[in-house]
Amino acid sequence: MAQRIVTMISEDEIRKRVTALGAEISKEYASKNLVLVCVLKGSFVFTADLARAIETPMRIEFLGVRSYGEGTSTSGVVQITQDLSRPIEGEDILIVEDIVDTGLTIAHLLDLFRTRRPNSIKVCALLHKPARSRIQVPIDYLGFTIEERFVVGYGLDWGEKYRNLPSISVVESE
Ligand code: PRP
Repeated sequence: MAQRIVTMISEDEIRKRVTALGAEISKEYASKNLVLVCVLKGSFVFTADLARAIETPMRIEFLGVRSYGEGTSTSGVVQITQDLSRPIEGEDILIVEDIVDTGLTIAHLLDLFRTRRPNSIKVCALLHKPARSRIQVPIDYLGFTIEERFVVGYGLDWGEKYRNLPSISVVESE
């Protein structure tokens, strides 16, 4: 069956929102020890743009995660496939996620990082799908709230395809 890519959030809308988030984060972390934690793979595009929209000096870390179960959604059992390169004790951690869906991945990562004694931990997510929420998680900085559609692009995939699309899109069957 043929597929059609339909834009849900355009490049321009994303750029404006990311710039605004960057300004907000720059202000709030001006005197802190900011560490952006990019949760692979989906967050690589958002993290790259967000980092450049933040003026505060920072470190950037990459966390590899794999979640199991339920086919297209996570079970909340998150396996770390690539850990942070350094300790985060005393630092101000900002977890950068492309999407918070059930919330189980973020809940697990918050629990994990808290054991490492950072000074603070916050969450920045580009997208939130409240319809699928299974656990309440704090999203301190949010790009967009979206409806219950399967979205791709700007780092998000469908079977590893479409991560390179510049907009957030939905795949429709024709
Ligand atoms: C996505 C996304 C989050 C998680 C959110 O990752 O990047 O990490 O799912 O889902 P949740 O709120 O239901 O836990 P995915 O497992 O698709 O891996 P990927 O980032 O490598 O594409």
